[in-house]
Amino acid sequence: MKLLVLFGLLPVVFCAGGLMGGKSNIPNPEKNVEIMAATNFALEKLNGLLDSDAKMTNVKIVSAQTQVVSGVNYFLTIRVQYGADVKECNVVVYVQSWTNTNKMTSQNCIDLKASKRSLLGGIVPVDMDADTKKAISFGIENFNQRSNSMFRSQPLKISNVSKQLVAGNLYRFDADMQETQCRKSQDNINKGFADCPPNVKGLRNVCKFTVLQQAWKTPEWTLTDFKCNQGGLLGGDGHDLCHLDHFTKFKTDFNKNYETTQEEKKRFKVFCDNMEIARRIQDVEKGTAKYGPTIFADMTAEEFGLRLNPKPWNLNIRPDNMLDADIPQGQMPTSFDWRDHGAVTAVKNQGSCGSCWAFSTTGNIEGQWAIKKKTLLSLSEQELVDCDKVDQGCNGGLPSQAYEAIMKLGGLETEKEYGYKGYNEKTCFFNKTEVAAKISGSVKISQNEDEIAAWLAKNGPISIGINAFAMQFYMGGISHPWKIFCNPTKLDHGVLIVGYGVEGSEPYWIIKNSWGPNWGEKGYYRVYRGAGVCGLNTMCTSAVVN
Ligand SMILES: *[C@@H]1O[C@H](CO)[C@@H](O)[C@H](O)[C@H]1NC(C)=O
Ligand SMILES: *[C@@H]1O[C@H](CO)[C@@H](O)[C@H](O)[C@H]1NC(C)=O
Repeated sequence: MKLLVLFGLLPVVFCAGGLMGGKSNIPNPEKNVEIMAATNFALEKLNGLLDSDAKMTNVKIVSAQTQVVSGVNYFLTIRVQYGADVKECNVVVYVQSWTNTNKMTSQNCIDLKASKRSLLGGIVPVDMDADTKKAISFGIENFNQRSNSMFRSQPLKISNVSKQLVAGNLYRFDADMQETQCRKSQDNINKGFADCPPNVKGLRNVCKFTVLQQAWKTPEWTLTDFKCNQGGLLGGDGHDLCHLDHFTKFKTDFNKNYETTQEEKKRFKVFCDNMEIARRIQDVEKGTAKYGPTIFADMTAEEFGLRLNPKPWNLNIRPDNMLDADIPQGQMPTSFDWRDHGAVTAVKNQGSCGSCWAFSTTGNIEGQWAIKKKTLLSLSEQELVDCDKVDQGCNGGLPSQAYEAIMKLGGLETEKEYGYKGYNEKTCFFNKTEVAAKISGSVKISQNEDEIAAWLAKNGPISIGINAFAMQFYMGGISHPWKIFCNPTKLDHGVLIVGYGVEGSEPYWIIKNSWGPNWGEKGYYRVYRGAGVCGLNTMCTSAVVN
């Protein structure tokens, strides 16, 4: 207990309530200011883990305990409404007021059954009492002990919880288990996804658990049965997609030729591994997108990664003179597409070079130029790769910095004059007399997606950053991955929003990519609009053309 070393420093008030390290129940927790503060903090953290289109509401504190360590642990059981579901969450919030530390150190939420009614002689859907919760965590921990994996799995969802009285209490529940990035160790027991993020390449199992509690026996709890359907109920085995016929079709579709049989074998293996990943991304898809054998299906993560920004962007970089864009007021159109208004050039291909930022920048300026000057020009990315010395060519860059560089250089040449090579050239071949388009500044656009849409419809396509998590195997549809898999603060790809619309009840953005017309929807990516999916709303900028 090295935490106790700080005992001497503790303000006396912390020690008044009980023994150091012991837990004290807080009566009337909803009337206790500290508990309410800890609860609100936990709720904020929990909501941060959910997709932002729904929030937990109607919070009720079921119980609260405090424990004085070197600081205070708040053990909270709270019940919340989440959409049509009622969830019960056990959270631990750790507060060390003298160092301004507030942390949610553990969280575990389960769906409660709406009804407690028993069918005659049947199985009772249970309200989540303490024993049921114990049965579930017992099942999960035993599953982790017994599985062969080195990594800890955690339930994405618990459902169908029931309790039956047969020679003890027999608990049954279904758990959608997802492997995390944490190794199995004593330290990681009972950790939530906040501390152990899911690994999308990790195992996914839908398991049925049966746990027996016999209070008079030692041990009291036994995991009597668990059956897992690896890969979830949603799709079959990923190897369905890696059949040789599929690989042959893939090769024909994308005109792939491998030089040696050995290379061919290696690519088939990569293809199979990738189809397994695609299937898992499909499992955590909330929209209508399909993932499968795209043109990149035979590339390893490293090879594919060459077309992304090598490091996630530092979102704090913002040139001093970048102004906030004016957001148009009033009604915006329900859909808009700049491709129908002559402001978007054909889809380009960056190749194996991390120059996405340059394509995002030229795409925006092409749009601004077309709208202001009534001429659609295809502008040079290679000029930026070679001559923008603040950015790093094929090793990454930022559109906001590229606007600055273009102003310093004096403008952009056309694609025709300064063609794309897809590698860092030693020299900058910029020739000022060949400048075709000039800009006079740049603006940062809102993070609110309605305001982004309003600005876009009035002013033109927008340069954005996005987390490319779901893109390698995107075949089409409206992409909407779970937030825990597609971290909105890790932007690694620069693209261009050219429009938006609604399909059925799904609002979406139309995003121009730079991976050629044979990827996605003829080179385009549609993404769910209104939930900050993959951080697409966090780095929206445009050049200004006068
Ligand atoms: C829960 O039970 C329902 C009804 O029996 C079933 O359709 C569903 O697949 C079960 N859930 C899981 C995750 O097994
Ligand atoms: C710059 O471009 C102009 C017009 O195309 C051309 O006449 C001139 O020779 C070029 N200068 C250099 C240094 O290439």
